[in-house]
Amino acid sequence: MVVANRLAVDSVTEPDGTQGWKLSPGGLVTALEPVMRSADGAWIGWPGSVDTHVEPFEHGGITMVPVSLDQTEVERYYEGFSNDTLWPLYHDVIAQPSYHREWWDSYVSVNRRFAERAAALASEGATVWVHDYQLQLVPGLLREQRPDLTIGFFNHIPFPAYGLYSQLPWRRQILTGLLGADVIGFQRTADAGNFARAVRRLFGYETRGSSIRVPLENTDERRPERSRTVVARAFPISIDSASFAELAARPDVVERARQIREDLGNPKTVLFGVDRLDYTKGIRHRLKAYAELLEDGRLDAADTTLIQVASPSRERVAAYMELRDEIEMTVGRINGDFGAIGSAPVHYLHHGYPREEMVALYLAADVMLVTALRDGMNLVAKEYVASRIDGDGVLILSEFAGASDDLRQSLLINPHDIQGVKEAIVTAVEMDPRERKRRMRALRRKVLENDVAKWSATFLEELARASHATASSSAPTRDGVELEEAGS
Ligand code: G6P
Repeated sequence: MVVANRLAVDSVTEPDGTQGWKLSPGGLVTALEPVMRSADGAWIGWPGSVDTHVEPFEHGGITMVPVSLDQTEVERYYEGFSNDTLWPLYHDVIAQPSYHREWWDSYVSVNRRFAERAAALASEGATVWVHDYQLQLVPGLLREQRPDLTIGFFNHIPFPAYGLYSQLPWRRQILTGLLGADVIGFQRTADAGNFARAVRRLFGYETRGSSIRVPLENTDERRPERSRTVVARAFPISIDSASFAELAARPDVVERARQIREDLGNPKTVLFGVDRLDYTKGIRHRLKAYAELLEDGRLDAADTTLIQVASPSRERVAAYMELRDEIEMTVGRINGDFGAIGSAPVHYLHHGYPREEMVALYLAADVMLVTALRDGMNLVAKEYVASRIDGDGVLILSEFAGASDDLRQSLLINPHDIQGVKEAIVTAVEMDPRERKRRMRALRRKVLENDVAKWSATFLEELARASHATASSSAPTRDGVELEEAGS
């Protein structure tokens, strides 16, 4: 069973006007779909709109279990606590987190709803995998109700250093929620380390390597020092690399890439950025570096184009509205200062695109700009690499994105260092083709070897190990009575 804020399907309106569902295109769904189908799995999640009350239904061999949120819950649990408290806090306070008690109350009650759905539907001894910062209380709530379950949790975003995490008024409750899991996965080793440190500082539990000893409430006098072991370590997520490579080989996609360059007037250099329109992505920093290079004359607007795709996201949260205004003003200014009739130095697109179009854009781009100020992983960097079956293209990658742990042959940058970003862009534009290919070959090896199927298999193997370890020390049953194994 998967428990995630978003359901694995999106609502679509068919040509005849009826309403239907389509599998979401994201990497998580792609990775887990085969596992879920073969395990007869269920996916619990929010359908993404207010007050959508839909009974569980089958889609592509998976039972979809929609959890409804009302208007107040969308405002307080989703836009508020998840995306205006936890999101900025966990991304190193790039934006100021807001702490509101009524948001927290809503977070608790929505997490409880998800946990109750999972507890009611999971079969005896099932494996439940909970995803991301929106649902950090679910593992603990679920374990209280269903000690027979094996519970995994994966945090898709960074976990902050204790000095920041400790701002959270509900810092103990969140840790207790997470520690209900048998395995807690993070993107980077540093995130797992931050988590373990928070556990030591707030609870004083013993941590050794990736193991955390969580004392159990002492209900059995014969076993005075009982504890559970929780594993907390890095499982860097990836993409469905082969499917990007396959798309990149399709003649219509290759033709579309050529068409894109032609529509841009066949410039010498195409730079490309694609992000959710989010303040963590460093879009402003990227635009500043680019504008200065045009100003300095080190890039020529007549033969250089930056395509910036910024897909709409969390549009009712104030920080996102402000960011949009700022980006759009900056783009307008750059095009006004350096553009000419028939040529704009920035092509700014406030849309999401299907995967085919994304791959065509990746193929059309000489230089990919990933300048995140903080990012759990950044899958765009991996998608670019997987799509470059021609072995060409240069990736500029922020060292503050989890992807930089693995993709060392990119041009690594500190996005706060505008001078450094400018130098990296010039280096990328002027890079010798042999050097470009050498770097891309090494990057491709990494991304093709470590795909998202391997990620989910590795996590689930760790979870299976954790569940065997628990089973051999005690055998919890559904009603919470522990049955000792024969001979133990
Ligand atoms: C990040 C988070 C996901 C989230 C996605 C889109 O990748 O880790 O949990 O689903 O952003 O954000 P949204 O708020 O639209 O779900």
